[in-house]
Amino acid sequence: MNIAIFASGSGSNAENIIQYFAARNEVHFPIILSNKQDAGIHERAKRLGVPVICFTSKELKETDNVLNILKEHQIDFIVLAGFLLKVPANLINAYPNKIINIHPALLPKYGGKGMYGSHVHEAVVAAKEKESGITIHYVNEMYDEGQIIFQAKCEVLPSDTADMVAEKVHELEYNFFPKVIEELLTDAKK
Ligand code: GRF
Repeated sequence: MNIAIFASGSGSNAENIIQYFAARNEVHFPIILSNKQDAGIHERAKRLGVPVICFTSKELKETDNVLNILKEHQIDFIVLAGFLLKVPANLINAYPNKIINIHPALLPKYGGKGMYGSHVHEAVVAAKEKESGITIHYVNEMYDEGQIIFQAKCEVLPSDTADMVAEKVHELEYNFFPKVIEELLTDAKK
């Protein structure tokens, strides 16, 4: 099974996932794809020995370049881990129910365009929510609206800052994202 991870940011989830599967022979990560030349993911990928292939948002939207890269590397499954661009129809059609994303809140709340990273946690704190969490979902052409696969919650205290919520959410991500991917891959084989 060949998985491609798409990442635009620091890449801590990408690293955690690749390390989780390092001891499992059947899952490979031939490439990471990124739309950012200067993101933290590059440093991590170098350490992990996984090549990063960069593309522009125009290339993603208007050409089959990214799709062709995925085909060349015989990619079976796509994981978005902090990837900020909308996934276009050509990829969704080529990988039906094989593209998943993690969102750092309990969708359908705090999703949609502009709701990423610290914006999400700031909105959660501003709304005085008592809980937040993670949502792992299939990707369709609408931001954060694909079918939900898994959610996990954490408590938000009145004294919590957005950074503190982010830390709790990251902990859930590191704990659950690789396990959920593993379950999906196991189910896919049945
Ligand atoms: C994570 O919080 C993830 O839920 C969101 O973007 C963040 C990525 O962090 N989609 P990292 O790049 O994996 O460190």
